[in-house]
Amino acid sequence: MFLLIRAQELVETFTQASTLRRHLGELTRQGKRVALVPTMGNLHEGHLSLVDLANSHSDVVVATIFVNPLQFGPAEDLDAYPRTLERDLELLDGRGCHCVFTPAVDEIYGESLEEQTLVKVPGVSEGYCGSSRPGHFEGVATVVTKLLNIVQPDVAVFGLKDYQQFLVIRKLVRDLQIPVEILGGEIVRESNGLALSSRNGYLDSQQREQASAIYRSLQSVAAELRKGSQAIRELESKGREIIEQAGLRPDYYAVCNAETLKPAQTHDENLVILAAAFLGSTRLIDNQRLTRNTHSTA
Ligand code: PAJ
Repeated sequence: MFLLIRAQELVETFTQASTLRRHLGELTRQGKRVALVPTMGNLHEGHLSLVDLANSHSDVVVATIFVNPLQFGPAEDLDAYPRTLERDLELLDGRGCHCVFTPAVDEIYGESLEEQTLVKVPGVSEGYCGSSRPGHFEGVATVVTKLLNIVQPDVAVFGLKDYQQFLVIRKLVRDLQIPVEILGGEIVRESNGLALSSRNGYLDSQQREQASAIYRSLQSVAAELRKGSQAIRELESKGREIIEQAGLRPDYYAVCNAETLKPAQTHDENLVILAAAFLGSTRLIDNQRLTRNTHSTA
């Protein structure tokens, strides 16, 4: 007698863009609404919350897992970036994701990474992570444009954890007139406030405690701004100090207009505090958006 052991059936995976498009084309013809959730894998609750958001706006959720070489600098962690495909597929399956696209590098970039057409987004991609990581946002904008073209979703979901990235993608979609709705998912945090990130895996438990200083600093600066403080430069220094005292090395710390990312002006109501800091060689980013009443006299 034969005992047939079937591999556990997981979410449907695709490695070829053409096969995925054929599959989705059929679903679109049936009138299904498609949502895209791009990721680089090593999934955590932050990513999975985007799958939930995507599910609440569509009939079919397509997640992509692709560690995009074009958005990593030469001295960055491309090779060390954690790759945990089997676990990721189980998590996506459990969360009601319908299809996963896991292309190889040459499926996205062909033979040559060096001879690619690049998407450059002026304005919001400049400064902050754009200065610290030259070429990073071109890499992100290029791969996201490709993924949008391959999947042709009705809606695409990105995390507000990477706030500058979110603005870059929103602008590229408008500028290139790509017919897709962009949604932002709230930041998911550990209980100590540390924003979930694949890079937290590089930290031990004590370092994760230290790293929560970024969140504490954002809360403290946001509270002052909400009370009406206009001492923006002093508040930025105070935020930096909280991070430094915890043993991190701030990369940038800036209170900005939440739409343009220009330094905050007295009359700006919608603000975002952007922070990036190193703990050892691990670079962490976080942000806090807030609205303030600029008519207050406090
Ligand atoms: P990755 O870092 O894997 O993140 C995938 C998505 O998850 C992004 O939209 C990111 O903002 C979101 N995300 C990460 N941590 C989050 C958290 N704690 N809370 C909420 N959302 C969170 O960002 C990228 O990949 C890449 O740049 C990509 C857009 C896939 C292009 O390569």
